[in-house]
Amino acid sequence: MTSLPGKPKLIDAFGRVHTSLRLSVTDRCNIRCFYCMPSENIEFLPKPEVLTFEELARVVRVFARMGISKIRLTGGEPLVRRDVAVLVAALRTIETIDEIAMTTNAMLLADKATELRRAGLDRLNISLDTLDQKQFQEITRRDGLQATLDGIAAAKAAGFDDIRLNAVAVKGMIESQIVPLVGFAIDNQLTLRFIEFMPLNSTGRWHENDVLTGSKIREIVEEHFGELTPVPREDISQPATDFLIANGSTQIGFISSVSEPFCASCNRLRITADGKIRNCLFSHAEWDLRGPLREGAGDEQLESIILDSVAAKKKAHGIGDEQFRKPVRAMYQIGG
Ligand code: GTP
Ligand code: 5AD
Ligand code: SF4
Repeated sequence: MTSLPGKPKLIDAFGRVHTSLRLSVTDRCNIRCFYCMPSENIEFLPKPEVLTFEELARVVRVFARMGISKIRLTGGEPLVRRDVAVLVAALRTIETIDEIAMTTNAMLLADKATELRRAGLDRLNISLDTLDQKQFQEITRRDGLQATLDGIAAAKAAGFDDIRLNAVAVKGMIESQIVPLVGFAIDNQLTLRFIEFMPLNSTGRWHENDVLTGSKIREIVEEHFGELTPVPREDISQPATDFLIANGSTQIGFISSVSEPFCASCNRLRITADGKIRNCLFSHAEWDLRGPLREGAGDEQLESIILDSVAAKKKAHGIGDEQFRKPVRAMYQIGG
């Protein structure tokens, strides 16, 4: 989808065209995954600092006129904002938005799946790192495996197809879950992606050696399920490298953001729950939209801030470089 004639497009200094916007609708979450959040003493944003649905819809309308055609709702956990279907329905009325997706832990999905589908949500990505109840508790510091599985089943029943499961690949932790998770994906006709653990946790405890790489997981999968067949990449901006498993119908993907960065084809921008633009997950700068929005800024003023953020986008995340510093905000404050 192209932007309106005469409207500035979202092309950065390296020629990357931005068509995808990830909206964090809240920094709150109902679980506490160690790779994303601290276990306690979390200072969540006070409610007045979080963009309202009206403000979010206004922001998306401005971005849509500049060429954004895909929206992904994230959090924290987006379903913690219980009436998020209202936002989906509002975004659905924006003509040039082709796809609205959500990334969720699915624990609150069982009651919401049908409503979200009716409101116009196209796709769901669901976080699931383990099928072992005890390990689920260790990773998320909460009980919730059954609620997640119920959420997945409800999403299928509500008519969501192309559901993608996300498993964060932390070395020494999920090796024993690779085969069960692939089995679960096969049995339930779901796509499964393994995501390399990135330095976006709040504790600062991250080392390259903690990353279980996509290529290592591929070896383990192939040992058990036979050789994987590469799936040609339809969209070069897709973060996952996809394969079909030997049964021919289950897709497995590897999001190897640490060992094989895909920044050269990045097409994403992000809005935090408090209305800041981030041009990269690992960005140290943010551009405020909430202040100008609440002071009555016109579309052109907002466009100009958006263009500034795009112009400043760096070539790549730089993990592994000597001068790399992890961002101050953790994953739950950025939206993944
Ligand atoms: P689809 O490809 O549309 O299904 O979505 P997605 O994979 O972009 O979305 P999702 O929220 O499920 O992200 C899965 C993982 O990929 C998360 O850990 C994200 O942080 C990571 N990811 C998504 N986009 C980027 C990105 O631009 N850069 C990096 N480094 N990681 C990303
Ligand atoms: N590294 C990689 N992926 C992460 N996620 C959360 N924290 C991290 C991290 N430190 C994943 C979640 C969710 C997605 C939005 O991001 O599992 O699926
Ligand atoms: Fe895009 Fe930054 Fe992710 Fe690289 S690390 S793909 S530039 S968001």
